[in-house]
Amino acid sequence: MMARTVDPFVEALRSWDGEEAVVRFDAGTGTWMFVCVHSTVLGPAAGGTRMKVYADPADALRDGLRLAAAMTSKNAIAGLPLGGGKAVLAVPETPTGERRRELLLRYGELVEALGGTYVTACDMNTSERDMDVVAERTRHVMGRSVEGGGSGSSAPSTAVGVFHGIRAALRHAFGSDALAGRRVVVQGVGAVGSALARLLAEAGAELVVSDVVPDRAQTIARELGAAVVPAEEALAIPCDVLSPCATGGVLNRETIPRLRCRIVAGAANNQLGEPADAERLAERGILYAPDYVVNAGGIIHLASLELLGEDEATRDGRLRGIGDTLAECFRRAEAEGISPGAAAERMVAERLAAGRG
Ligand code: NAI
Repeated sequence: MMARTVDPFVEALRSWDGEEAVVRFDAGTGTWMFVCVHSTVLGPAAGGTRMKVYADPADALRDGLRLAAAMTSKNAIAGLPLGGGKAVLAVPETPTGERRRELLLRYGELVEALGGTYVTACDMNTSERDMDVVAERTRHVMGRSVEGGGSGSSAPSTAVGVFHGIRAALRHAFGSDALAGRRVVVQGVGAVGSALARLLAEAGAELVVSDVVPDRAQTIARELGAAVVPAEEALAIPCDVLSPCATGGVLNRETIPRLRCRIVAGAANNQLGEPADAERLAERGILYAPDYVVNAGGIIHLASLELLGEDEATRDGRLRGIGDTLAECFRRAEAEGISPGAAAERMVAERLAAGRG
């Protein structure tokens, strides 16, 4: 008898511990829409909409499922009354103009049909303008443009959160959170990295910046009196703090042995190549601020101002809370002889258990 092959959709869903995944095929654009609701234990599942060309729709579903689970952890540890979700629009090619608008309107109808179980926002390849279009069909959307009734870019808040995180890490590693005299390397000076660089410079840090777009690094360096290093050298520069604010996967088997920093704390998502890299960092005596803890400022900004109706002072208090959460995470890691990443996972599990209880 021939062995039956398992459908990759079925396989992906069977091995997932989330609540539901809603699928729609948009024939007009040939787009697969996946809305992945990982957890609503602490509140509506919140997370962005990623638009991307995938080799296979099953890859898109797997991406959505994984990212939705990560949002559950991020929102829980940020202390937000939100669960975790993510949507993926797997497009055959990036749509523009009227085609894009039509796709986003139909996607907005799908989000609305979920009745608030899932709340969306921007993510890779979706912008504030796109969320304005989605908002024509659903109320369950954050991250619209200011003109469209939204709270504007979340990047400055993400930078503030990372700044508080860096201070908490300094306090833990050196007994003082003073930045004066501390050398910080910021890898990637885009929306978040440049805002963070300004905060660090203001606080008196000795700043080193780097970007694959050399002009970007030069401009911010001139503004702040920072040093510039070529992108390929940034990770190996001796420093107190390395702040990855560019892309994911920068901390891996190859790069970790070359690091010459005491602390890694940055905005980039998915900084570890694989979970074992958290242990590799710990073995080298490098204090790692788990990415989803330290980069929660963006979702805090959106949720606080747009969903919870809070003012900026309350949002700022939540951003400061990132530093407190990290401090707790480092303390527990030390007390329990585990990595900060493992401590963060335990904290997430406790918050979810309390939510269920
Ligand atoms: P961005 O696209 O504005 O900036 C990224 C910068 O990194 C660009 O200037 C790019 O040229 C540079 N870059 C790319 N690869 C590089 C490399 N190998 N070496 C040095 N520079 C490199 O993105 P944004 O919004 O500043 O986000 C930065 C990171 O933070 C991303 O990983 C993003 O997923 C993450 N993040 C952003 C949030 C936000 O609110 N914008 C929230 C949470 C996470």
